[in-house]
Amino acid sequence: MIHRHQLGKVPPKPHTTFYEGDKLLMEQCVTREGFDGPFSILYFRKPPTDETRVDTMTVEGFCPLEEKTDLPLHRRHIRTQDVPSGGDFLTARRTILFNDDIQIGVCKPDEPAKHFFSNGDGDECWFAFDGGGVLESIYGTLPFKKHDYVIIPKVTPYRIHPQGGSGTFLVFEAASMVDVPQQWRNRSGQITMFAPYTHRDFRIPQELLEFDESKHGKPPYPLVIKRDNRLTIHLFEHFPHEVVGWDGFMYPVAFNIHDYQPKTGLVHLPPTTHTTFAGNGYVICSFVPRKTDFHENAIPCPYGHAAPDCDEILYYVDGNFTSRKGIEPQSISLHPMGIPHGPHPGTYAKSVGTDRTNELAVMCDTLKRLRMTKFADSIEDKDYHFSWTRRQK
Ligand SMILES: [Fe+2]
Repeated sequence: MIHRHQLGKVPPKPHTTFYEGDKLLMEQCVTREGFDGPFSILYFRKPPTDETRVDTMTVEGFCPLEEKTDLPLHRRHIRTQDVPSGGDFLTARRTILFNDDIQIGVCKPDEPAKHFFSNGDGDECWFAFDGGGVLESIYGTLPFKKHDYVIIPKVTPYRIHPQGGSGTFLVFEAASMVDVPQQWRNRSGQITMFAPYTHRDFRIPQELLEFDESKHGKPPYPLVIKRDNRLTIHLFEHFPHEVVGWDGFMYPVAFNIHDYQPKTGLVHLPPTTHTTFAGNGYVICSFVPRKTDFHENAIPCPYGHAAPDCDEILYYVDGNFTSRKGIEPQSISLHPMGIPHGPHPGTYAKSVGTDRTNELAVMCDTLKRLRMTKFADSIEDKDYHFSWTRRQK
């Protein structure tokens, strides 16, 4: 989705014979939006289609999705800092908020990755709050680091090995492609010179995945697949993720939030200025340390805001959060459409005269109402809605 890339060997023309020794390799085309969208073509040593058994699997808090219903309309504060670590990159996943376009969750693994996983419900975008790691996928291995976004296209078999065995991640799953927004591309598809990043900022797998029995084990080889918010385990007698080469536009990428080039205006610019990725019904924005507005009477703190057509979440990462009190790193605030939100008492006036913010946060705006899971309800700060009127610590 960033630009065409090739790794390993591919034949000069697609859909023609391609041998390794005397063995004809299996071509697989991964095509988006039918055949109209971006695609990649991979050449497999073993066909990825011949599983011998399929079982079901559940991960409590992740699949199946469990909605908390009959909630009053509130501004909400979900304390994901209270989620304990436990499990691997798949079994530690917990979904917090969701609608038909996007799901938002967290993952705090403390074990090495076990099974490979493929998300048939959507693209994933992981944000590494803490700790890096290595993404292993059919497109190769992709190392990533703290504060990276890692985008994994729909139906990519992958697994994540957190560096040092543990990590803390914010995880988006989007029904449509997580992509560079149209306003940051020119008509040739190139990222423009006024975009907040360049092609050079995106990191791409550079090494193909090689089967290694000491790392990948003996048969059967399980692949967990998510489809319609349910998990099934597909068992293969051979390792199904080894390719000799691929090319195309679909593959995982990593992008570090500190490579985002923020903009500042004479007076406060809306969050749209910070748009990083977008798809149908949502945008993901990056708030990074930056100089603030330069009008002599500017109020750098965000203004009070009614967004009748958006639900808005913020995931707080680091620094001082200009407009909020009682919020800590890993907090998720949800400010829903229907009621206004704004800075906490005192923060608005306090910001006058400041010329810099060191806040680091990830925002997501959605066009459809976000619904909360039962798991999110169990870690919610129930006093948040009234924290504008009750005494602040
Ligand atoms: Fe807002």
